[in-house]
Amino acid sequence: MSAVTSPARDPLPPARPHQKFTDDGRRMREVLTYSRRGSRFTPSQQESWDAHQQRWVVPDDRVDEPGFDWDELFGRRAPRIVEIGSGVGEATAVLAAARPGHDVVALEVWRPGVAHTLGLLAEEGADNVRLLSVDAIWSLEHLFGPGEVSELWTFFPDPWPKKRHHKRRLVSPEFAALVATRLPVGGCWRLATDWAEYADQMRAVLDATPGLAGGVVERWADRPVTKFERKGVEAGRAITDLCYRRTR
Ligand SMILES: C[S@@+](CC[C@H](N)C(=O)[O-])C[C@H]1O[C@@H](n2cnc3c(N)ncnc32)[C@H](O)[C@@H]1O
Repeated sequence: MSAVTSPARDPLPPARPHQKFTDDGRRMREVLTYSRRGSRFTPSQQESWDAHQQRWVVPDDRVDEPGFDWDELFGRRAPRIVEIGSGVGEATAVLAAARPGHDVVALEVWRPGVAHTLGLLAEEGADNVRLLSVDAIWSLEHLFGPGEVSELWTFFPDPWPKKRHHKRRLVSPEFAALVATRLPVGGCWRLATDWAEYADQMRAVLDATPGLAGGVVERWADRPVTKFERKGVEAGRAITDLCYRRTR
């Protein structure tokens, strides 16, 4: 397990997606891996949010503050796992509760999903999680230093099936190159998808990324079945799990 360090960061990180404006004040067009879904909470999500957000949610603006520090947010220094696109937290809560010696940063831009996750974290009693609703690509680049992410989880990333939308897929050569720097040597990027053609793309991209090696693996037994996996299976799609490790 690598040492977890807090690197010196830029005192003022660059603007995040959805915060970038042209000189005349218009929002800049950006290629994002997610679409803005509804932000309305159900009554039970609202209840979870009100009860637990202070404990587990990192306010978006906090990442713009100089001296942003995960150790401070977790109140300790432990190997840090990052989950990208945690959805409603079905996997997050169970996996984190089973790993009390690790801290889990769950990055999810869909706020109702974050609220739902809070309820599950409370049920599981998983204190080792912090939720952040800031774009995961920006976050990985600006909030983590080299080798600081002991493991990365990406389960059922949006498949963006239409060809003209493929540029919105999370797993791209540029992002894979960034991930390779954030993992320590031996650290693993676990992925799962129900979209065969995206699985092929993941393999092609990750096989070609210097410093990463791996491929298709058996279904990760620890990984809870989420709604997206259930829907994929019901529709007759095969699930592919992948694991790529940093080699150097
Ligand atoms: C298809 S869902 C899968 C959710 C969950 N992993 C599961 O298996 O149930 C993908 C999620 O990734 C989130 N997402 C996509 N791109 C993201 C990004 N760049 N940063 C943070 N979240 C992102 C979306 O909001 C969405 O909730």
